[in-house]
Amino acid sequence: MSDNNNSSMWSGRLAFILAATGSAVGLGNIWKFPYITGENGGGAFVLVYLLCVALIGIPIMMSEIMLGRRGGHSPIKTLTKLSQQENASPVWKYVGWMGVLAGALILSYYSVIAGWAMAYIFRSLGGVFDGANAEVVGKIFNELIASPEKLLAWHSIFMVLTIWVVAQGIQSGIEKAVKYLLPGLFVILLILVGYAMDSGDFSKGVHYLFAADFSAIKKESILTAMGHAFFTLSLGMGAIMVYGSYLPKGISIAKTSIAIAFLDTLVALLAGLAIFPIVFANGLEPAKGPGLIFNSLPIAFGAMPYGTLFATLFFILLFFAAWSSSVSLIEPLIAYLMERKRISRVKASLGSGVAVWLLGLGSVFSFNIWSDIKWSLNIGSLKFYQNATFFDVLDYITANIMLPLGGLFVAIFAGWVMKKQSSVEELAIPDLAYSLWMIAIKFITPVAVVIIFLKSLNIL
Ligand code: TRP
Repeated sequence: MSDNNNSSMWSGRLAFILAATGSAVGLGNIWKFPYITGENGGGAFVLVYLLCVALIGIPIMMSEIMLGRRGGHSPIKTLTKLSQQENASPVWKYVGWMGVLAGALILSYYSVIAGWAMAYIFRSLGGVFDGANAEVVGKIFNELIASPEKLLAWHSIFMVLTIWVVAQGIQSGIEKAVKYLLPGLFVILLILVGYAMDSGDFSKGVHYLFAADFSAIKKESILTAMGHAFFTLSLGMGAIMVYGSYLPKGISIAKTSIAIAFLDTLVALLAGLAIFPIVFANGLEPAKGPGLIFNSLPIAFGAMPYGTLFATLFFILLFFAAWSSSVSLIEPLIAYLMERKRISRVKASLGSGVAVWLLGLGSVFSFNIWSDIKWSLNIGSLKFYQNATFFDVLDYITANIMLPLGGLFVAIFAGWVMKKQSSVEELAIPDLAYSLWMIAIKFITPVAVVIIFLKSLNIL
């Protein structure tokens, strides 16, 4: 690596937990979790999701951090080095390549959605949702996404903010940003939950999230819950692996993984507790799909006391969450460019930023001038995506294929390829905890991931 001093490592345990939690807590928690919970009927889905976090998420997170810290480089070089050390085939490095690519692809559309959140901060602040009905709110949303100029402007601003943080490095960039963003995010979230308790239909919201009605559970829901566990914990593409490579030795991987998964889950549940009581108090539907946050929630805020203030806070929250995640999506690519091309962090950040920004244009235009260009991919009886825009295709390929595959390979490498001695040494946990991890990573996780995978190909 070009910078060998300590500022290229996390300053300590807390810094790592904040950064990894910042990566995990994102659009997935505040935008996606509430709407998929709504679409899958509430409480029982939440329970399945919690099980997936515990049984699949935590063991894979431990493995990713472990591989990252042992390898100490970008996911590509880390896997190259570890496969040599473990006498395994050099093809493992392609798992690293897939991760670096997946991160760039995800960020290219993630940034566009984060741009909507930023646009909504200013819409709310301007009071446009005050007293607005469904039609007015819908029009505001459609006007935004129909405008390539507006989406492009917000996408560009968000990418500049992301690059600005990563260009400054680990301690003075990412660490400093999450030090402000995460506490800010928690404070706003707690204020919003307080507001929902006070002005929303809180008991109905709580009941919806926590009363498990198993008759509502479909095979489909279980698979959605598993896929979301990957996305929300930032697993399967080397983001957590590269963060692990900056983790000083001696810090417990198991404890930090549990802390990160706990905080990520807490934020998702609190976001649900902030959103659903407001949705119910205003007679809106919880199962509104991806538009829940942008199309439904503003109607609720608009009808409530101090709605303008709280709507603004809500979108600031969403933006903060997206920002601390976006830096982790691009970090694997930056780490790779720095070690491979021997260029400075600033140059690597700018180069990666321009590439991702360009790719993001495809997603920007897929909501307007290219909205009629649709793709379907079927190979024999395997149905991949149908009638999908550029944005949909990217979302599909990354979330449904690349992340589960990445997670599967990480589990196989950690559980089957790596010598036991290596993982015992790196994890340094009591025997019982080690055995539980081993069972999860060798058996439970690969089976579960294969199921998600088959499902996403519509084989199951
Ligand atoms: N976890 C983030 C969210 O919930 C998104 C994210 C950041 C991510 N880094 C990732 C997803 C790496 C998959 C892989 O919004």
